[in-house]
Amino acid sequence: MTKATSMPIIQVRDLLKSYGSVHAIKGLTFAVGKGQVVGFLGPNGAGKSTTMKILTGYLQPTSGTAQILGIDVMRHSIEARKHIGYLPENNPLYEEMMVMEYLEFVAQMRQIPKSKRRMMIEKAIHECGLGPVVGKDIGVLSKGYCQRVGFAQAIVHEPQLLILDEPTSGLDPNQIIEIRSLIKKLGKEKTVLMSTHILSEAQSTCSRILIIHDGKLVADDTPLQLTQQEGGIIYVVVAPKQGEKLSKKQVLEQLASIFGVTKVEPINEYQDHGVAMMVGYDKEDPRADIFQKIVSANWILLEMRRKEITLEETFRRLTKE
Ligand SMILES: Nc1ncnc2c1ncn2[C@@H]1O[C@H](COP(=O)(O)OP(=O)(O)OP(=O)(O)O)[C@@H](O)[C@H]1O
Ligand SMILES: [Mg+2]
Repeated sequence: MTKATSMPIIQVRDLLKSYGSVHAIKGLTFAVGKGQVVGFLGPNGAGKSTTMKILTGYLQPTSGTAQILGIDVMRHSIEARKHIGYLPENNPLYEEMMVMEYLEFVAQMRQIPKSKRRMMIEKAIHECGLGPVVGKDIGVLSKGYCQRVGFAQAIVHEPQLLILDEPTSGLDPNQIIEIRSLIKKLGKEKTVLMSTHILSEAQSTCSRILIIHDGKLVADDTPLQLTQQEGGIIYVVVAPKQGEKLSKKQVLEQLASIFGVTKVEPINEYQDHGVAMMVGYDKEDPRADIFQKIVSANWILLEMRRKEITLEETFRRLTKE
């Protein structure tokens, strides 16, 4: 592999940012490789926007380094920014400008040569589906179209990396779906780092998820791994053989004795048909052992299934105070 292809698109090392006495980020280290679509999750105030502002050269970190394609964002800000398209939180736009006028202004600011400007603007307009509104003032556009204008300004200079700070925030459900499919389309060609509070969105759009909490990285994995590594819950219903009796206590004791089981709790609504339990575990799926235990005790296994852990549950566990 050549050096160029193995170089990460984003490399962040020991990044720290304090606003006076507020320590917004407290030592972040991560790298993002080419072509990844990375979800950047965390509760309000976790440090997502701060990190993104540093990556895009809008904020100086207190210490640590950030590189885009190997270029230091502090020392060579202009050079690094050429490779980045940035859609900031709340997407600030010039409301009194026409869409076309605004994109021309952005292209000029981006120092796109005059000979290429028209062609690159047309391409961005096409990619972002802005055709019907190019002659309109930004101030009269729907929020969905405003967001598309934000995307167009972010891609007009054809950057390799897109940094999107809550790109679907404040949109209605139809607009969310449209913007999400735009992100998916752009993500086929570009590396994307996007923050969102919609966890299902991260799960469906992103190939990798970073979770930050209180300025520190608390998870870095694929959406699937994040929900499967967590252990889980098995739902079990046990009944006695005909003519025999079975107490909750007996079942609870047997299940609790299984290696790897962390918690056993009875569920009341199944009393009449048998004894129902929720069995928590932290590592290996204990279903085979549960089955053996029930057979050895000479009981009947009426039901057994694994309850899926959602990304919401993982997020809650990692980020609650
Ligand atoms: N300009 C500023 N001055 C002082 N404190 C700030 C400033 N900007 C952010 N902070 C603080 O830094 C911390 C991180 O803020 P940041 O905006 O990065 O969080 P976030 O993860 O983007 O949150 P949200 O989900 O609400 O957008 C918060 O405690 C915030 O109050
Ligand atoms: Mg933010």
